[in-house]
Amino acid sequence: MASKIKFNQESSVPKHLGLTILSMIAIGAVNIVPRLAVADVPGASTRASQRERINIDKGWAFAFGNATDPSKDFKYGLRPFFFAKAGYGDGPANSDFDDAAWRRVDLPHDWAVELPFDARGNGNHGSKAIGHDFPENSVGWYRKVIDVPESDRGRRISIDFDGVYRNSVVWVNGHYIGTEPSGYSGFGYDITDYLNYGGRNVIAVRVDATVEEGWFYEGAGIYRHVWLSKTDPLHVGKWGTFVRPTVDKGGATLDIDVTVDNDAKTDGTFSLLQDVVGPDGQRVAHAEMTGLTVKAASDGTFHGSVKVTAPHLWSPDTPDLYHLKTTIVSEGRTVDTYDTTFGIRTITFDANSGFFLNGKPMRLKGTNNHQDHAGVGTAMPDALQAWRLNQLKGMGSNAYRTSHNPPAPELLDDADRIGMMVLDEHRMMGTTPEIRGQLERLIIRDRNHPSVILWSVGNEEWALEGTPLGTHLADEMQDIVHRLDPSRRTTVAASSSGRGVSVSADVIGFNYGAQHDVDAFHQRFPEKPAAMTEEGSTLSTRGIYFDDRSKVHLNAYDRQGRPSYSLSIEEGWNHVIARPWMSGMFVWTGFDYRGEPTPFGWPAISSQFGMLDTTGVYKDSAYYLKSVWTTAPMVHLLPHWNWQGKEGQPIDVRVYSNAQAVELFLNGKSLGRKTMVANSHLQWDVPYQAGKLEARAYSDGKLVANAIVSTSGRAEKVALTPDKHKLAADGTDVSVVWVNVEDKVGGIVPTASDRIKFDVTGPIRIIGVGNGDPGSHEADRTVDRYEFLPVSQWRSLAVDGTGDQTEVAEAVDTTSWRDPLQWLPPEAQPPVTAGLVLRGQFSRPTTQPGDKVSLFVADLAPSQRVYVNGLPVETTVVDGNRQVVLDVDGLKSENSLSYVIPTPKGGVPSLADVSVGGSRWGVVRINHPAGPWQRSVFNGWAQVIVQSTGVPGRATLKASGEGLSAATAQFDVK
Ligand code: GAL
Repeated sequence: MASKIKFNQESSVPKHLGLTILSMIAIGAVNIVPRLAVADVPGASTRASQRERINIDKGWAFAFGNATDPSKDFKYGLRPFFFAKAGYGDGPANSDFDDAAWRRVDLPHDWAVELPFDARGNGNHGSKAIGHDFPENSVGWYRKVIDVPESDRGRRISIDFDGVYRNSVVWVNGHYIGTEPSGYSGFGYDITDYLNYGGRNVIAVRVDATVEEGWFYEGAGIYRHVWLSKTDPLHVGKWGTFVRPTVDKGGATLDIDVTVDNDAKTDGTFSLLQDVVGPDGQRVAHAEMTGLTVKAASDGTFHGSVKVTAPHLWSPDTPDLYHLKTTIVSEGRTVDTYDTTFGIRTITFDANSGFFLNGKPMRLKGTNNHQDHAGVGTAMPDALQAWRLNQLKGMGSNAYRTSHNPPAPELLDDADRIGMMVLDEHRMMGTTPEIRGQLERLIIRDRNHPSVILWSVGNEEWALEGTPLGTHLADEMQDIVHRLDPSRRTTVAASSSGRGVSVSADVIGFNYGAQHDVDAFHQRFPEKPAAMTEEGSTLSTRGIYFDDRSKVHLNAYDRQGRPSYSLSIEEGWNHVIARPWMSGMFVWTGFDYRGEPTPFGWPAISSQFGMLDTTGVYKDSAYYLKSVWTTAPMVHLLPHWNWQGKEGQPIDVRVYSNAQAVELFLNGKSLGRKTMVANSHLQWDVPYQAGKLEARAYSDGKLVANAIVSTSGRAEKVALTPDKHKLAADGTDVSVVWVNVEDKVGGIVPTASDRIKFDVTGPIRIIGVGNGDPGSHEADRTVDRYEFLPVSQWRSLAVDGTGDQTEVAEAVDTTSWRDPLQWLPPEAQPPVTAGLVLRGQFSRPTTQPGDKVSLFVADLAPSQRVYVNGLPVETTVVDGNRQVVLDVDGLKSENSLSYVIPTPKGGVPSLADVSVGGSRWGVVRINHPAGPWQRSVFNGWAQVIVQSTGVPGRATLKASGEGLSAATAQFDVK
């Protein structure tokens, strides 16, 4: 491709900008690898200070704290001066704390999905045992040790969290770093000053999910990625580039802003190099700005523009992406390179003609979705996010609303790559520093994504919608958005219209056609573009054709969910296409999600609004949408054809197709050919007779598609269908595996509910199972659950020797011994003797059959002797930790743990100082071991998600059910 550059102007910086000189270099097409290598600047040298972005998801220690009882929350906040003095973080926040007994987890992690269902849980949140009534399940602690090499001294190092649900408090090496209330906003901290260079560093995060943000399942924990970023002091700021393409006759002009942070104590002088690489890996533009300065401890924003000829325009059908490589060269050295992915496209929301992409009219065929999937909850591996987008795309959807919060960054990366337009939504309306900060972070983080076509600053804020305050806040928030991103418009999804927030939005967001007189609104505000930000909220259970309220199952025929405010999917789409000015609609919802079990309460645990169930199986309405949203010939037939006992009775048969006519056959006999009604369906009442029902679709007189539903035989076998058999050995890649119960000839048995057990061998693990049944209380994930009992009431006694001591005997009265944790002035310390007895107490744990109980003990001295209830015990080292396996039946209600050790140098205080309140000297762990991985199929279907463990090899998933022949699936993990 020819390249032509007309480099324009700089305009820089509100603050402290030095002289900015711009030079322009025109180049021919040069081949560059799109994942840009560091430092290809002639004459520039590199050193270790170049930018690194390191994922630190693996190997966190996790344990439950407690939301109401600090004694069960590792004494959170109880230490004197805990928050009063810097570096006084205690319990897990203390770097000396020993988390050896904790569970090991990899992120993303959602602990809520691992909890049991409970009628006392909040139904809107999926009835998990979390929240105010479950303080023991509502606080989670995460700890991780990272090594930072001495060579990193002088670099800027920050820790970045993509999302933690919620109210997270972060400590590094015992120092309080910060609090982030939002469960959805990305946040980060510069921790350069707190690190131990050339040594061990402890990150501790306390997460409190007691209070909810949304009215839907939200998970709990560090459910998105965590990164460590290392840069030179002079570097591109966080989310520090903004590329705004304008398409014009000659091609596209890219306006590029780069914010450079200078964290050094001296002014930084540098050149900025910009290389634009096209979708085919060719460099298509290059520009340089030289002689730039950012003063010490400041930042500056630099603006330039380049021209790209004959750009590849991004669209859902052609998701072509460009890369901008920004290089900072200072004193002959490349100090930073920064890669920005962007796309070139135009968007227009027109008040009379609706939405246009690249100048062409295009309806938004959208769905609303929460971040929640069967089995894994909110902790979605990236590959699963992509899989979900592809499922939606498969029914012809081109748009996705991130209801009602900022999405994971990878969702937008996938949307860019796969071709899915996004309505990107902020969480809560407001303009306070906290809320405004969250809005600003969303815009700055996401504004380079071509997939993002519209911002939303709010959803159904009932207290504000119709009020002048609502109008005012919407105006203020839109101003903030426009200042940060002049290239896009905003909306507010509203349940009432004509007043308040809905009037001031750039693009009117109507939630539900039946709630609004959209035509009257359009007449009153003819200058306002609009979209149906929600439509549907229809209720259907996948594979169910007769309501069974006792099982919380609702038939899957398309109908209004709640007639007072919603339309059926078919009515909703017709409502949109009857109005050329309506930009499109976002169905509530794409996928079913946990919580909002409308119209049921307990025992229903998930919503039924989806076009796909929680596992991603298409419900019938997804095929309606496919018939009106796609053009490749298709026909779909419902219901299934297993109606034994209803012989001769009429069955409501419906057909969706994008062909011109459909003919229905029962056991080879025609029931008539009908002309398809545009954007609608066909219907037959068919007296039931077992056998084969077939729909044949015709266009221009030719058979273009057919669909068959057959009466199945009895369940004979399990079948596994992975979405892929090759997995990357990166410890994150997943295969989404369908599990079906089939008859002899391989037909899915649409009424089967067999329980299937799963086993794996080789380098894969199961991370979740599901079946889409809104009434199922089977476990999504099965994991070891740990409880801890502290060893406390420590007493110490100075003794003469370190041999067997009578003082450890069960009956010894320790009341006259000293409290080793109590501070004494040096002159009051007891004399240092040869030996020391240290003795603590623990209660007998309450256990269930199958539980494993271990006492974790400390390594206080190589020659230590350990006693339980006065008897010497053998300790074993498991995973580097010293443990005693306890026989609970042999324990009493109160028990002693004693050590006999040589008195260390410095006496008792030297031991106590690093004991973290004695917690390092012993803890009892009760392990309720994970059950087997299993799940019942629901109407013949279930799902199991397998993930690579991080090593290459061949792996096998086996699925077996009683009375069924088993199935295996093979995976090649590379
Ligand atoms: C809407 C709301 C959605 C969801 C839906 C259920 O009013 O915006 O979040 O609650 O109702 O019908």
